[in-house]
Formats: sequence, structure tokens, C-alpha cells
Amino acid sequence: MSVVVNEPVPRPGILDIAAYVPGKEHAPGVARVFKLSSNETPLGPSPKAREALKQAVDHLEIYPDGQATELREAIAAVHGLNPANILCGNGSDELLGLLCHVYLGAGDEGIITEHGFLVYKIQIMGACATPVIVKEKDATVDVDAILAAVTEKTKIVFLANPANPTGTYVPVTEIRRLQAALPKNVVLVLDAAYAEYVRRNDYEAGLELVSNSRNVVMTRTFSKVYGLAALRIGWMYAPAAIIDALNRVRGPFNMNAPAIAAGAAAVRDQAFIEKAVEYNNLWLDKLSHALEAIGLKVTPSVTNFLLIHFPDTDGKRAEDADAFLTSRGYILRAVRGYGFPNALRMSVGTEEANRGVVETLGEFMGRNP
Ligand SMILES: Cc1ncc(COP(=O)(O)O)c(C=O)c1O
Repeated sequence: MSVVVNEPVPRPGILDIAAYVPGKEHAPGVARVFKLSSNETPLGPSPKAREALKQAVDHLEIYPDGQATELREAIAAVHGLNPANILCGNGSDELLGLLCHVYLGAGDEGIITEHGFLVYKIQIMGACATPVIVKEKDATVDVDAILAAVTEKTKIVFLANPANPTGTYVPVTEIRRLQAALPKNVVLVLDAAYAEYVRRNDYEAGLELVSNSRNVVMTRTFSKVYGLAALRIGWMYAPAAIIDALNRVRGPFNMNAPAIAAGAAAVRDQAFIEKAVEYNNLWLDKLSHALEAIGLKVTPSVTNFLLIHFPDTDGKRAEDADAFLTSRGYILRAVRGYGFPNALRMSVGTEEANRGVVETLGEFMGRNP
């Protein structure tokens, strides 16, 4: 006898996905809130991007350019790339999803790392494939662990470099070693959402590797140092065949016109980005030292956020600190879901917010900053 199903049923595996939980925004009962939970920049976008956005508002009845030509050309000019190898998306999240949609199916495997960005797992499962999670070493991606997990079913490897929520990075020599050893049919995704902040001689976001191979993709975002998270702008640099495949399935107008205009203006204003990075790196350093001075351990970060580890003592754990900070209006990110039950992630904020967190945590720890 056939079973009668009286409502639509999602594909197997979809209801096993734990939906992404964004950073908290509110502190109940607190009037003034400092949101340091989503790695947004405290400096906002370039004034030139704001101006471009205002002008775009006069033409909202017109469909956007489905190729996002102005934005792709502006990105290409700044980074010295061929615009044909650039694809823009509604945030880099969209591009990560498209890659899974195109390269994964039931029975395939996608490799992710222990503390990796949660969107990878969601998108791999959303494509009915299996996420294979490999260990990290000292909260840093371990290339050998990735290579040891590769099977004939592996079709994609996701790697954030630098990584979120750890803030650590993998040197370019290691990334090259990974690419050289991976089977050529496996897509290696280098998610470089925080690349602009990195000032290390042994770091590269992935441009050269993409240019010299057929299976490497680099994704970037305008949500962090560019200060345009609300507009949802991401881009990808990839071999022509991968761009072609993704173009076949993406929404024909996946980028909206105000985002195209503001993104193009923002990327042309590199002087603004330089200043934003300088501000961030100054505070990243100050915050790391100040937090260590009050007895907290901080994972060394090359990004715009810090992973702060708390003592394993009653009343002093991360969840206690989270409640104490929230009661004062400082919202950090709990990272239990990333495998750090006793840590909080703090985005670099305004000077007032940064000083406030240090002071509040000093009080929490019973130490003067
Ligand atoms: C590692 C990483 N990749 C991608 C993203 C998503 O960026 P977007 O806002 O462009 O979708 C984030 C945002 O937090 C991130 O941390």
C-alpha cells in the first residue's frame, strides 16, 4: 500500500541542516549597544560609495546589468585581472552556495576544517553531499589533514584564509602544496573574506594560484573592510570554465544596481581601504595586548577580529563573560558552534567600543586593564 504524503517533503538531508545563526544585535534592556559580533568595520564605507548609492536610487525602476560589468571592471582594474574571470554575487555567501550547487551532488564529499566557516557545511549539505570535517592544528588549517581526507568522492575543499573565527592563516607555500597534491577534478575554494587586513610576507589571497590552475577559486567580499555588508556584494576570481558553469545557474540579476554602483566606487577608493586597514591593525595589536594583560588568552589574528579564550573556572567562563558584556551593551560572538565552547569572538570596533570591552572584561576578570 502506498503511503499518502499530504505536504511537500524536502530532499533527504535538508532537515538535518542547522540553519546559520547570525551575530546577535540586541542587548535586552540596554539603551546603547556596541555590536562586535559580525566582523563589520566600525568605519563604514568610503564616502564615494555612499555618493554612488545615492545616485543609483534615482533609477530603481530599471533592471540592473545582469553581468555587473561596471563592478567587475573596477575590481579587475584594481587587482590587475581579466574581468572575464570575475563573477559577482549577492555576498560571497551566494558564490559559495553556487559552487556547491554546480560541483556537488548526492554521494559526493566536500572537505571542510574543524573550526571552518559554518556556511560551507550548510551549502555542502544543501547540495545533498556529505561534509567531511578534518582536524586543525593549534586553531590553524592543517594541509596534511585535508590531503589525508581526500577520497574519490571528494569534489570540493573549502578553506578560509585567513580563517573565521580563529583569525589564523596558512602561508602561501602550504596552499601551493595543497593545490599540487589535490586531484585535478577537485575545486579548491580559497575564501579570502579578510584578505585585505593581512600584512604578512608569506600570505597571498590566491590570485596567482587561480591564474595558474584550472581548479582553484578565490572568493572575496565587500562586507568587511569595504563596509558594505548591507548591500551584499561578493566576488570570485576563477578559471573561465568555472565562471561559465556558475553563470548558467545563477539568478540572471543576482546583483542589484545600487550594489553594483556602490561597490565599483568603493573598490576604486583604495586610499580609504588603506586607512581602514591601518586603523584596524593598530587596534588589533592594542586589543591583543590589553586582553592578555588582564589574563585572557587570545589566538594570534591577522584579521579584524580576535578569538578570546576564557578560564575554565565557574563564573569566569565564556558564557558568563558573554552575559556580563551584554548587560553593559557589548555584544560579542559566542563560538560554541565553531568548536570553541569557552571562547568569544570580538570584532575590532570604534575606539570607544574597544576600550569599553577591555574595561568591562578587566572588571569581569577582577583585574585592572
Ligand atoms: C570566512 C567568511 N567567508 C564569507 C563570509 C560571507 O561574506 P558575505 O557577506 O560576502 O556573504 C564571511 C562573513 O562573515 C566570512 O567570515
